[in-house]
Amino acid sequence: MHNELIKQAQRIMQSAYAPYSNFKVGAAILSESGTIYSGCNVENAAYPVGSCAEAGAISAMIAGGDKKIIAIAVAGKGTEPCTPCGGCRQRIREFSTDDTTVLICDDKELRLQTTLGKLLPMSFGPDNLQ
Ligand code: THU
Repeated sequence: MHNELIKQAQRIMQSAYAPYSNFKVGAAILSESGTIYSGCNVENAAYPVGSCAEAGAISAMIAGGDKKIIAIAVAGKGTEPCTPCGGCRQRIREFSTDDTTVLICDDKELRLQTTLGKLLPMSFGPDNLQ
């Protein structure tokens, strides 16, 4: 299942709209229902309006009726592994646990396997508001 998730993230990365940074990113989520949801980054001439791949995948997941992320793969090229940005770690956190698997890959292979808890320790989440 992880291999399929990685493939989907790599596939949707090709569809990214990133004419300003030229840095294409793809994300694929394995949800609790077993459905895979994917998204890519969509930049904008007004730079801050652009959105990350993870945000697109989460939006697709919510639109599809799922609310729990079991694993997420993020694909991006470069010498450094394409780890989710700070804002996206918090976006993933909303629908995850500390054990949620995060797979970081490039267009060829898995670079790093970690968890949301390691990427965002002592996080603030829905439980804090109860
Ligand atoms: N980007 C993502 O899509 N996800 C991340 O977690 C890191 C950054 C995108 C945003 C922007 O379009 C490009 O990568 C360069 O920052």
